[in-house]
Amino acid sequence: MFILQEAIACPLCHQSLAATPQHCDTCHNYFQKELQKTPSSLMDLTPEAAHQQIKDNAIQPKPLRTELFRSPIISFFYERVLPPIWAAGLRNPGGIDVEFAQCTQFFGENPGIVADISCGTGIMARRLALTGKCKQILAVDYSEAMLLQLQQQMKLDGISSSEIIVIRGDVEALPLASDSIDAIYAGAAMHCWPNAEEGIHNIYRVLRSGGKLFATTFLKPFPSIVFRFFSVDELRHILLRAGFNSEYVQIEARGLYAIIRCIK
Ligand SMILES: C[S@@+](CC[C@H](N)C(=O)[O-])C[C@H]1O[C@@H](n2cnc3c(N)ncnc32)[C@H](O)[C@@H]1O
Repeated sequence: MFILQEAIACPLCHQSLAATPQHCDTCHNYFQKELQKTPSSLMDLTPEAAHQQIKDNAIQPKPLRTELFRSPIISFFYERVLPPIWAAGLRNPGGIDVEFAQCTQFFGENPGIVADISCGTGIMARRLALTGKCKQILAVDYSEAMLLQLQQQMKLDGISSSEIIVIRGDVEALPLASDSIDAIYAGAAMHCWPNAEEGIHNIYRVLRSGGKLFATTFLKPFPSIVFRFFSVDELRHILLRAGFNSEYVQIEARGLYAIIRCIK
């Protein structure tokens, strides 16, 4: 519980919810009340959840590439239909099992506090929980439908609600304290974010010094119609501008799939 309260923060002022002043003028302590819900139910730490308490101009409408994942049909499809298609080569040749092996190898034997950002149905968070090696896992996504699938799957997999803390959060208003997270996984996610620059900037902020980011996304020439796809150079630029040192940024292109490994 201590780790939780220290790492989970107000998405607006970034203060750890454990350290929020008696009265917060920004959210009027809305998010602190959400923290009390854990671990049994979903905490909603998006600015939208507190819209009645905060100024409306803090909330921007999201693009289709974010909104479409909020559909229960998409979350069902994501959990039940896509994994075998990925394994056949659509994602990271070898599918999610290969990605899991790459990610755990990069995170090492003691991954510490791990956040799966844009976790979707928790395809990676659940695998990480089953290793029993992480000090704490936080699973964050903007879509309530994806998180509901995650919670249902956790029950089926025998993973308790204290092993994976499930949070509704926006990567652009990340409800995590600065320098608090040891390792972040953001799988197949950047192309879905409204603003990838802002998302990576926030990830850099919340990683502790020496913390690791393992992220994957798709590359051009996939056309950016709904999703935003990147070239390797664009990805590198985004990572360096967020603050990562070029020495500790590695981007591997496997066909049209990019695998990013960074150390803060
Ligand atoms: C393609 S899915 C990837 C899910 C999972 N990480 C995986 O590896 O399969 C992209 C996820 O990004 C989430 N997402 C999109 N915009 C977001 C935002 N602004 N903040 C947090 N998550 C977001 C979506 O809800 C969706 O679950």
